[in-house]
Amino acid sequence: MSFAGILGRDFVGALGFPTPQSSSVPPGFLPTDSQSPFLHDMHGIHQGELVNIGVLGATGTVGQRFIALLESHPYFVVHALGASARSAGKAYSKAVNWKQTTPIPASVRDLPVHACEPEHFRECVVVFSGLDADVAGDIEAAFRAADLAVFSNAKSYRRDPHVPLIVPLVNTSHLSIIPQQRSLHTPPLRKGFIVTNANCSTTGVVIPLAALERAFGPVESCLITTMQAVSGAGYPGVPSLDIFDNIVPYIPGEEEKMEWETLKILGGIGESDAGAQAFDMHAGTPLRISASCTRVPVIEGHTETVSVRFARRPPPSPQQVREALLAYTPEAQTLGCPSAPRHAIYVHEEDDRPQPRLDRNYQQGAGVSVGRVRQCRVLDVKFVVLVNNVNIGAATSSIINAEVAIAKGVITL
Ligand SMILES: NC(=O)c1ccc[n+]([C@@H]2O[C@H](COP(=O)([O-])OP(=O)(O)OC[C@H]3O[C@@H](n4cnc5c(N)ncnc54)[C@H](OP(=O)(O)O)[C@@H]3O)[C@@H](O)[C@H]2O)c1
Repeated sequence: MSFAGILGRDFVGALGFPTPQSSSVPPGFLPTDSQSPFLHDMHGIHQGELVNIGVLGATGTVGQRFIALLESHPYFVVHALGASARSAGKAYSKAVNWKQTTPIPASVRDLPVHACEPEHFRECVVVFSGLDADVAGDIEAAFRAADLAVFSNAKSYRRDPHVPLIVPLVNTSHLSIIPQQRSLHTPPLRKGFIVTNANCSTTGVVIPLAALERAFGPVESCLITTMQAVSGAGYPGVPSLDIFDNIVPYIPGEEEKMEWETLKILGGIGESDAGAQAFDMHAGTPLRISASCTRVPVIEGHTETVSVRFARRPPPSPQQVREALLAYTPEAQTLGCPSAPRHAIYVHEEDDRPQPRLDRNYQQGAGVSVGRVRQCRVLDVKFVVLVNNVNIGAATSSIINAEVAIAKGVITL
């Protein structure tokens, strides 16, 4: 089945993916094998088939982005919404303090907001969660127990040894642990599971690191400094008097998350003699990471400076690194997932890019932008990466993860 056939070029443009003729493609390096995900066959879903989805935390920063992004999705249909007792019982347009740049989709405006209880989501196949981490743990567990497929943005299950932590442009192979997660549940689940996304800053850095490890073998050390947008803290987030004219050099828990999550994502899955699967945390080739996280007065888009040392000696040159970043094609693209970016990593030539205000919406924020690839005098190579923290750093990751789960038959319709 061809998505181009179903959707046509207008749909591709409507999603914000630049068409080959589009003038919105910024200058810089572009892969020569420019490919459209819509030209590939997609497995796991039939032409015209629609999939009901629910959104938990639908009124929050990430929840609103789910709703904005899903408005034009080819097969996911927003069917049920959940939020706190403050919002439950109201129509969505009355409950939400809408902060997106597009209007509330007409199909969602009048949907009722429910309490986050599985009984209201029985007709959903997939549930996307933008819940506050303080409440996500118990609620998401209840939804999994009700045999629903949950894709979470909260930190609650990222360290669970049976829950995959998936950045969809990096480690979709980790979906292979889902049968084990289902079998360990009492009683064993037929359809339910939890998949988590990474922290938004982790997402930005693991995509280029995965590309470099694929091309050049293990990265040995990595130094990261983040300049994180205020939207990363949800709404209303950091008080304006703390962030205007300022940089806050501390985000509680963030550095530890980046240093730990990167190992789970970039590591593999090993199997014991008894056949049990376990994440290996990059154990074969230790990867040392040091992150310093700061909050800056930017609304959306985390900028990160990254220096890496490769295990391989001599290391690749900056030009070889640029080429490897450009050539990187994740499985989500190969499978033809409709929300996957056309270019997982866009590599800028200009010295003053990427910048959050200019580059955060490229490909609807579904890829990452890298620039300033150059030699590092202490490690080997350094560069700057920009990640849209609310899109590929949150909602878009969950959406692509669900698309991949359908394409690989982890979710059956
Ligand atoms: N913002 C980002 O860039 C980003 C990136 C990656 C991951 N995340 C993670 O994504 C999650 C959501 O973040 P956010 O920025 O969207 O937060 P947010 O704007 O504060 O939204 C939180 C959502 O949780 C709901 N909620 C709060 N208490 C609840 C309860 N007791 N029961 C049910 N629902 C409840 C809220 O509903 P009401 O409106 O009814 O209160 C709201 O819909 C967090 O775990 C965060 O760490 C965020």
